[in-house]
Amino acid sequence: MMPIGPLMIEHRLIERMIDVMREELNLFEKEKKLNSDFVEMAVDFIRTYADRCHHGKEEDILFRELGTKKLKDEHHHTMEELVEEHRWGRKMTARLVEANKRYTEGNGEAMTTVTDCMRSLIHFYPKHIEKEDKHFFIPCMDYFTEAERQALLREEWEFDRNLIHEKYKNMVIAVEKKLTALTL
Ligand SMILES: [Fe+2]
Ligand SMILES: [Fe+2]
Repeated sequence: MMPIGPLMIEHRLIERMIDVMREELNLFEKEKKLNSDFVEMAVDFIRTYADRCHHGKEEDILFRELGTKKLKDEHHHTMEELVEEHRWGRKMTARLVEANKRYTEGNGEAMTTVTDCMRSLIHFYPKHIEKEDKHFFIPCMDYFTEAERQALLREEWEFDRNLIHEKYKNMVIAVEKKLTALTL
């Protein structure tokens, strides 16, 4: 398998989640109320899977190695755009989290911000994925030898293997901090 194989498989799951988010958004607008538990679950998917796991492998492995190659201007430019789009996605997700929190605290007006953020993310992901799948990933493989491709793939598996430990270690650190703050 090429190192873009796992990334493309992950794109398919992100698309499925975006489809569910689209359906939920329609429901929120029809019923004029949010299901904040769904929003929280979607945020966890976006932050842990789409951003940390998926964008993490793109930026920390594939793009890092592409950065050591003499890229064509077109590929260099696209890679910068993709990193900038990842940053935009993080900011939009943070806005979504903040508005969903306000909504759960009883601020009904926050609903518009939640639905706007969801709509933006639903619009963003398919375009971002198409840019990578159709215009970037495949031509970029030509910069690597077969041995380099295999090393990239191995590093991706290792990255994934460590992820669940990282997620739950951070969760324990966060709850420990909360507890310490409470008992001080
Ligand atoms: Fe990406
Ligand atoms: Fe991607």
